[in-house]
Amino acid sequence: MAQEDVFKKIVSHCKEYGFVFPSSDIYDGLGAVYDYGQNGVELKNNIKQYWWQAMVLLHDNIVGIDAAIFMHPTVWKASGHVDAFNDPLIDNRDSKKRYRADVLIEDQIGKYEEKIEKEIAKARKRFGEAFDEAQFRATNGRVLEQQAKRDALHERYAQAMNDMNLEELKQIILDEEIVCPISGTRNWTDVRQFNLMFKTEVGSTADGASTIYLRPETAQGIFVNYLNVQKTGRMRLPFGIAQIGKAFRNEIVARQFIFRMREFEQMEMQFFVKPGTELDWFKKWKQTRLNWHLALGFGNDNYRFHDHEKLAHYANAASDIEFHMPFGFKEVEGIHSRTNFDLSQHAKYSGKKIEYFDPESNESYTPYVIETSIGVDRMFLSVMCHSFEEEKLENGETRTVLHLPAALAPTKLAIMPLVKKDGLPEKAREIMDSLKFHFKCAYDEKDSIGKRYRRQDAVGTPYCITIDHDTLNDNCVTLRDRDTMKQERVSIDSLRALIEDKVSITSLLKKN
Ligand code: GAP
Repeated sequence: MAQEDVFKKIVSHCKEYGFVFPSSDIYDGLGAVYDYGQNGVELKNNIKQYWWQAMVLLHDNIVGIDAAIFMHPTVWKASGHVDAFNDPLIDNRDSKKRYRADVLIEDQIGKYEEKIEKEIAKARKRFGEAFDEAQFRATNGRVLEQQAKRDALHERYAQAMNDMNLEELKQIILDEEIVCPISGTRNWTDVRQFNLMFKTEVGSTADGASTIYLRPETAQGIFVNYLNVQKTGRMRLPFGIAQIGKAFRNEIVARQFIFRMREFEQMEMQFFVKPGTELDWFKKWKQTRLNWHLALGFGNDNYRFHDHEKLAHYANAASDIEFHMPFGFKEVEGIHSRTNFDLSQHAKYSGKKIEYFDPESNESYTPYVIETSIGVDRMFLSVMCHSFEEEKLENGETRTVLHLPAALAPTKLAIMPLVKKDGLPEKAREIMDSLKFHFKCAYDEKDSIGKRYRRQDAVGTPYCITIDHDTLNDNCVTLRDRDTMKQERVSIDSLRALIEDKVSITSLLKKN
């Protein structure tokens, strides 16, 4: 099945099973804004818990905060967002549709890559076991031609973005003969800059209302609290401040479901270090964060680093962790070495001295910062994409199953009396009442056991137990594993020990 179709299925699965709904659904939705349903919120909370604990539980030099979304407007002047948090936009005159010029060009680069991958897939099929991909890439004429086109375009594009040369961006779109996907024409306007921050007003107009912004990243809430936390927490460098919270961007190209949203959530950690040590810490945090992803068991091949060639003016290194989504490798997390830019800017604009006194070297300096920044929603999407399967069973049937890591699954155990009589529901409720304190359980007594298993498979519940007539005599239940579908008879007394360890966030943290 084409990856596009798989993705469509994942999107509709998310809605059908209470993971993600379009916002204001009864009013036909609101572009690039989504609500999380009864299962989605559990999965999302588990992702956040996994991240939070990996930061503040596993590191005794990282603490958390929860800063307000509204901040003093000067914050965004100091951070550079008022002047430079822009996307280059272009309109198609025929369809009247608006696009991000950089996204149009990146899609074009993606098309060259797709052609290369197709050639490789064809050759692999033809040569079988003997296929040497590296040699094929280095020698095949068609692959070399596409690679050369891709590299040339990439270089020209990177330069244009670096210089924010809007005329050149338009010229690239014209030279590459990129057409509007709606009208199919090349009738483009000039490229213009568009600021992504949402504005609102605080105070009534009569009072003299002032414009404030919805934060486009959570990081600035950490920077402006650096002194508060360092002093009150008596923190010594190196130390980190972690935060999870909403961020808002007026994204023009809202695409790929919850991949690019206007209201989303970030999990960010700013790690303050002594100047000169930042690149070592940058390397360490790249690996630590990759390990966090790998512990989920989605396979090393599904991740890659994308080291930035074009750096923001304040950064001296940056890398993305990309995940293999059905629509290609895409950024899920960014790790940035932000130098002392943000703290210095806030010192300049606030007039406060924002420094650290180093008792070892007896000097004061502005700390450098390594940032790790991951989108909760993108992480959610990567988990969904990797877990979704339409599995062909031996009996010819298909089951839809979410192979969610057990620790992230919304429900850990479904408890099912075989029939709705003979004291089985009461026994099932009794088991639920003792286990519900330890992990999230669901109770289900409707329909056949087969149908109930399918329902739980579809929402990723790793374990089900069935209470039957024998249970009343032998105090045992049938435990069924979601992935293997194997069933075993186990005693009720052993259930907690059997399940708790496998479904706890601790099990993931231990793999970090
Ligand atoms: N403080 C640094 C920062 O905000 P970023 O690369 O702009 O860096 C970090 O964003 C992460 O936030 C991204 O890797 C992505 O996971 C998530 N993110 C950014 N924009 C998003 C959007 N419009 N919708 C969903 N997630 C987004």
